[in-house]
Amino acid sequence: MEPAMRSLLSDNGRYVQSFRLFLKNSTEHQCMQEFIETKLPEIISSIENEKPAFDILGVGSGSGEIDLQMISKIQARYPGVLINNHIVEPSAEQILSYKERVAKTTGLSDITFNWYKKTSHEFEEQIHGEKQNKKFDFIHMIQMLYYVKDVPATLKFFRSCLAPHGKLLIILVSGTSGWSTLWKKYGSRLPLNDLCLYITAGDIQDILSSMGAKYKSYDLQSDMDITECFVEGDLNGELLLDFLTETCEFKKNAPPDLKDQILQDLKGPGCSSTKDGRIIFNNNLSVIVVENQ
Ligand SMILES: C[S@@+](CC[C@H](N)C(=O)[O-])C[C@H]1O[C@@H](n2cnc3c(N)ncnc32)[C@H](O)[C@@H]1O
Repeated sequence: MEPAMRSLLSDNGRYVQSFRLFLKNSTEHQCMQEFIETKLPEIISSIENEKPAFDILGVGSGSGEIDLQMISKIQARYPGVLINNHIVEPSAEQILSYKERVAKTTGLSDITFNWYKKTSHEFEEQIHGEKQNKKFDFIHMIQMLYYVKDVPATLKFFRSCLAPHGKLLIILVSGTSGWSTLWKKYGSRLPLNDLCLYITAGDIQDILSSMGAKYKSYDLQSDMDITECFVEGDLNGELLLDFLTETCEFKKNAPPDLKDQILQDLKGPGCSSTKDGRIIFNNNLSVIVVENQ
């Protein structure tokens, strides 16, 4: 890794800013919404909850936009059932945004919200420390497994938290996305440290298969407009580049040869296509649904 470069996650304010811009420039949440509308009802219908309450655990939920959409499908499937929604999220800023979202959303009266300002590993330590045997009917980890130190151990722990018939839903970039191309080629020169791993859904499927886990996967097609990254001095373009490379102030801190190569490849067919004069990055995702056997 180049010495002047540091992980974007080391600056939470800039991370959140660039993530919001990424959401604005991509169809990331739209394709998840479509999945929630068309596929999630069937996935949750087989959870067979017979308890008076339905327990959800969101890990790395951000500001909760996708969480609340999934909750509305769970409410529709289990009308009148109390929902306990637990959220593990280390960013105070994201938790605040989630709380603000809950405050202005109607129809949440049968739901309790419990936030844990923790990383997934800290949450795991808390559960072990309390010697709790807490089980969840539905656990989700959406676009967050890049940020854990030990992915197999994390998957093993959260699988062990599933109630009988519970499901674990994971979303990550797909192995055929532009992200995968970028990370395979440049991962070793970017701030790959204990804050960020360049993993894709394909890697998770390999880990799950080696554990003997039963899972099903779904492909989501998604785009991201990165045209601004190629406009000199464009501040949004700089933030998007930070998000793409997971590097804080990439344009300022990356060595010129690396910057030129990455900008070149970002436009190329391994990462993007051109549509109506815009450069469109392949942001395809995969959803993996793990069953509790
Ligand atoms: C890319 S965002 C995804 C947010 C949300 N799930 C979504 O898809 O809109 C990643 C989230 O994971 C959180 N995060 C980072 N490291 C984490 C960790 N070790 N454990 C749990 N969450 C983490 C970040 O604070 C951030 O909110």
